[in-house]
Amino acid sequence: MSFGLPFKDKPPRLSYGGYLKINELISLQQLHSDPLQHDEMLFIIIHQVYELWFKELLHELDTVIVLLSREEALNANRLLRRCIEIEEVLVNQVGVLETMTPMDFLAFRDHLMPASGFQSAQFREVEIVSGLKDPHVLENYAADSVERKRLQDRLARPTVGDAFYGLLSKRGFNVQGAADEEKRGPGSEYMEEMVRLYEEAEKHYDLFLLAESLIEYDEFFLLWRLRHVKMVERMIGSKTGTGGSEGAAYLNKTAERRFFPDLWTLRTYLSNRSGGCNGAVNGGSHG
Ligand code: HEM
Repeated sequence: MSFGLPFKDKPPRLSYGGYLKINELISLQQLHSDPLQHDEMLFIIIHQVYELWFKELLHELDTVIVLLSREEALNANRLLRRCIEIEEVLVNQVGVLETMTPMDFLAFRDHLMPASGFQSAQFREVEIVSGLKDPHVLENYAADSVERKRLQDRLARPTVGDAFYGLLSKRGFNVQGAADEEKRGPGSEYMEEMVRLYEEAEKHYDLFLLAESLIEYDEFFLLWRLRHVKMVERMIGSKTGTGGSEGAAYLNKTAERRFFPDLWTLRTYLSNRSGGCNGAVNGGSHG
């Protein structure tokens, strides 16, 4: 009886390494430090891993938009839950990089200038598709670059929020004002409709679940921003960034950004009802 490898005599036509392009993948980590600094490997790999997750997030979010436009709320919600799981990984991954000391980082930091995560086009794509359509991001990319073209395409396409509000509208909510900041303030018809979405959740539970997933998605993105800026303070204090910004001071300002500001605002206007989805089971809400 042979306990040898299953493919000893006949290699499979498709191999693990061939399918996943492992040789190519592990040749992509090219250190710039001279003399070579041990932690630069970690620094490169962690950024590359982030970029792969950004790619996956974009893949999922694009499909979420399609599903919402087809009124498949629960299917879209399932993929949004996946995006949230990915975000959790993105947040927790910061801890791996924080095993690097500030001195270890400073030993190769100068070799990175003027490169910076600030230039991550996929990060900007995630921001745009999630609702932050800021055309100024284009200014950071050369006129004829692939990145700029991709960002221009994204800016012209609907966001997850557009698709969500489109679905709400099809399901009888008057959310015409969603795109206009002035029409969606407290007391507006729009905000009343958003409150109805929550207070009558049992009547359209799939939409309510979607709204809760969207705010959680937003929250985890914010948690990444906060975790990232704390790491930055831990590594470089209040030094300016390699990308030329004020560093932590700039990043702290970005933590004010929200993909779905209205979902946060509407909480303020919810009334104290005990007949909501969980009210009957839990005997009312707390907090
Ligand atoms: C030692 C670790 C790190 C330090 C010291 C650091 C520092 C900074 C600083 C100072 C900025 C502001 C822009 C600038 O002037 O450069 C920035 C932006 C940014 N970094 Fe990092 N970073 C680190 C790791 C990472 C990692 C692992 C990622 C993952 C992709 C990342 C992604 C980003 C992104 C996306 C921005 C733009 C944020 C925005 O504009 O909202 N950074 N980083």
